[in-house]
Amino acid sequence: MKKIDNQALVIFGASGDLTYRKLIPSVFDLYMNNSLPQGYAVLGVSRSKFTDSEFRKKMKEGIQAFSHFKNAPAEKINSFLKKIFYISIDTQKSEDYKLVKNKLRDLNAKFDLGCNYIFYLSTPPKLYGVIPKYLYGQGLTLQQKGFRRIIIEKPFGHDLKSAQELNDLLTDFFEEEQIYRIDHYLGKETVQNLMVTRFSNGVFEPLWNRNFVQHVEITAAESIGVEGRGGYYDSAGVMRDMIQNHLLQVATLVAMEPPSKIDPEEIRHEKLKVLRALRPLTDEDLKKNVIRGQYTESHVKGKHLIGYRQEEDVDKNSRTETYFAMKFFIDNWRWSGVPFYIRSGKRLPTRVSEIVIHFKPSPTQLFKSIDGAVEAGNQLILRIQPDEGILLKTGMKVPGKGYEVRSVNVDFHYSDLKDHYIPEAYERLILDCMIGDNTLYMSGESAELTWKFVQPILDYWEKDADAPLYGYPAASWGPDNADELIEGENQTWRYPCKNLADDGIYCEL
Ligand code: BG6
Repeated sequence: MKKIDNQALVIFGASGDLTYRKLIPSVFDLYMNNSLPQGYAVLGVSRSKFTDSEFRKKMKEGIQAFSHFKNAPAEKINSFLKKIFYISIDTQKSEDYKLVKNKLRDLNAKFDLGCNYIFYLSTPPKLYGVIPKYLYGQGLTLQQKGFRRIIIEKPFGHDLKSAQELNDLLTDFFEEEQIYRIDHYLGKETVQNLMVTRFSNGVFEPLWNRNFVQHVEITAAESIGVEGRGGYYDSAGVMRDMIQNHLLQVATLVAMEPPSKIDPEEIRHEKLKVLRALRPLTDEDLKKNVIRGQYTESHVKGKHLIGYRQEEDVDKNSRTETYFAMKFFIDNWRWSGVPFYIRSGKRLPTRVSEIVIHFKPSPTQLFKSIDGAVEAGNQLILRIQPDEGILLKTGMKVPGKGYEVRSVNVDFHYSDLKDHYIPEAYERLILDCMIGDNTLYMSGESAELTWKFVQPILDYWEKDADAPLYGYPAASWGPDNADELIEGENQTWRYPCKNLADDGIYCEL
């Protein structure tokens, strides 16, 4: 691993939820894993008024609730907290950035930071256009003495046009290599394992193409609803919240060609090639291959679950989608003719993210299958979360007379590893930015290409009042007609359960 220089992390939006739940607990995890350099400081910046000690107290609670090391001894937590500072500014006022500059000058002297700064924008997106400009105004983006990097949280734009404008604006003040567009799914250990599974096993890669793969399924299901984020969610929907970013990024890792070496440039280049090869959606696709839904109230296990329109800060007539599924194609040599299916939703029966590679069935059905699964072809399931692992569904002879076949599981669970510390996505991504490795961050072009791909869907929903929005009862698997998307007789989505090895529509309800 590259040497980590002394440096500071400056978090804008430090009084927000992300800082409390993810960023500071992840930096603390880095501290506990001895990954922070000797000279290190965190500077929280927000509008809310806190003293250093009030801010540290709040961050301590965050660590004790969300860190991997939540039970760390108090002295450890306290010594980490001494590296954390806070200033309150009006982020809309250019002159207030002088305070940031002065504070960094002091911290730099105190901790020997080498003038190396990462600016993390964890603010409402409207500030993405303001903060870079004012940092530039103070000379804080120029890499004359140390490095200067900027991390931008999602959403990266609201549509293609705004993403292009944001890219233009950022590159007015930072070089592309200084910009780290975060997609926390790419920081997940199991998402990174995708490349390792594919490119380190001679057994999978030869099969990973149109000759052997029938279709690919990618699911990110959540059982929670909008959890107090109704205001944001109602203007985003699952398309902007999960599909345009997390799921399409995962799809590029499933579909990319092997890079010639493990190097940020090479990997980003291969991923871009996939996005450039996405088949543009036609009007017919919009009508047939895209399904959106919204959860309605229901009763599950004696509990009443409210519908999306009853959620706080959600328009009572909202047509925002909380479920989305689609079929699409990648027009390149490897994937020609292979359908890709992606789906994501809130208030589904369980929280599961996984990729299912459906292989073509054997050319002739010599044996009788007692559960139908084998006839449908083997499945390789790469589980992102929870019960992280890999499962291969394969046919095996039922012991006894005759040649009946049933589907059995060959499975590996990360929890079986002796040392199965799985770092939080943010821990890994912050560390990568500290080192200057942007492999797991999105390039500007990648962000624009994903918006370009989904833009016709957004336009269709906005302009066509007849574009269907299906209701589905909270805690069900989404609209019934989602199964109709999947090509082939008797083919449905896999209905995963919390445990990797189980499946079936009702297992979690
Ligand atoms: C975020 C979305 O990006 O990802 C949330 O804004 C969603 O709505 C979350 O709940 C899911 O992330 P994870 O890591 O829990 O799968």
